[in-house]
Amino acid sequence: MQHRTTVKVIECTRYGTPEALQWAERPMPRPGSHELLVRLVATTVNSGDWRVRALHLPPGFGPLGRLALGLRRPRQPVLGTEFAGVVEDTGVLACRFRPGDRVFGFTGSRMGCHAEYLCMDEYGPVAPTPPQLGCEQAAALCFGGSTMLHYYRRASLNAGEHVLVIGASGTVGSAAVQLARNQGARVTAVCNAVHAPLMQRLGALHTIDPARHDFTALGERYDVVVDCVGTFPIDDMLGVLAPGGRLLLLAAGLGDLMRAPLLGRSRGLRVMAGPAQERASDVAELAALAARGEFIPVIDSVFPWAEFRQAHARVESRRKVGTVVLRVGGLAPAQPSTSLV
Ligand SMILES: NC(=O)c1ccc[n+]([C@@H]2O[C@H](COP(=O)([O-])OP(=O)(O)OC[C@H]3O[C@@H](n4cnc5c(N)ncnc54)[C@H](OP(=O)(O)O)[C@@H]3O)[C@@H](O)[C@H]2O)c1
Repeated sequence: MQHRTTVKVIECTRYGTPEALQWAERPMPRPGSHELLVRLVATTVNSGDWRVRALHLPPGFGPLGRLALGLRRPRQPVLGTEFAGVVEDTGVLACRFRPGDRVFGFTGSRMGCHAEYLCMDEYGPVAPTPPQLGCEQAAALCFGGSTMLHYYRRASLNAGEHVLVIGASGTVGSAAVQLARNQGARVTAVCNAVHAPLMQRLGALHTIDPARHDFTALGERYDVVVDCVGTFPIDDMLGVLAPGGRLLLLAAGLGDLMRAPLLGRSRGLRVMAGPAQERASDVAELAALAARGEFIPVIDSVFPWAEFRQAHARVESRRKVGTVVLRVGGLAPAQPSTSLV
C-alpha cells in the first residue's frame, strides 16, 4: 500500500562544491513486475559520489568524464551507489523478497541511492541484510567490497601470497585488507600510523606510514600491490612486485593507465585497472562474508539525512577512515557519530 506520491531525493544540479547539492521531490517509484520497492534507511557518500559531484577525476579523464557523466552536470543527478533498507512493496511477479524484508544492495554506476525510495530488480545486486548487521553497516558493504572482490578475482589472489594495500584506511583499502586476509593472504597496509591498530584488527600483519618510511626502500617484495591512492609512481609500485606479481590500479590517471601495462609486461608483471563490474553474485557473497563476521565495513561517521553537504565535505577531505554513512529520512541527532569498525 503506498500513500505517498512523491519522495525526497538529493540532487546534484551542477559540478562543484557540496553547495551544488539540494533537495528535490520526485514521483514515488513504482516497482516493475520483477522489482522491489525499497524504503531506504541508510546510504553512503563515497569517493565515487565526490568524483562525480566535483568532476574530480584522475588526471587525463576530465573531457572523457564529461562525455560519460554529462557535459555540464551529472546526467544522473541523484548520486549514491549503495543502500540498506526495507522492502515496502514488490512487483506482481517478484518472488525472492517480501514486504518487510531487510535488504541491502548496490546500484553502482547507475547511482540513485540518495533517495528515500528506489526500485531494484529482484535478481540484481540486492541481498537480504545479514541479521548481525544494522542498516548503517549493511549500506557500507558494497562500494569497497564489490570492488575488491572483482579485483582479487582478476588477480587470482592465492592463499599465502603477500599483498601490499596502499591507501588501506579508506573504503576500498579497508575492504582490500579484510578480503585479502580472508583468502589467506599476508597483508601489509600503507596508511597513516594512527591507523595501525585498526589495520591490525582488520588482519594486516604490518603497517607502513608513507610519511615516515618509503615502502620501495624496505627490500620487501609483494605478489599483489593494490593502489587505492593514485599518487605513487608506477615504476616504484612495479619495482616492489615479486616475479609473477600483479599491480591493481584503482585510482590511476590516463597516462599511467596507458604506460603501466607495457612497463609491467616488459618485466613479466601484470597490471589490472578499469571500473569494477557490478555483480549480483558479489553482493550475495558480501552478505555471506558479513554474516560470518569475515567482512565488516569500517564506518568513518554517520550523518543525518539533512547533513548531506557535510557528509560530502568529509569525503572530499580524503582523510576519512572507511565509509561515510548517510541516514535516510526521519529525525536524527544534530552531530554525526563516529566509530571505527
Ligand atoms: N576502479 C574502480 O572500479 C574503483 C571503485 C571504487 C573506488 N575507486 C577509486 O579508488 C580510490 C580509493 O577509493 P576510496 O573510496 O577507498 O577512497 P577514500 O576512502 O577517500 O580513501 C583514500 C585513502 O587514501 C589515503 N590518501 C588520500 N590521499 C592520499 C595521499 N595524497 N597520499 C597517500 N594516501 C592518501 C587516505 O589514507 P591516510 O589518511 O591513511 O593517508 C585515505 O584513507 C579512489 O580514487 C576511487 O575513485 C575505483
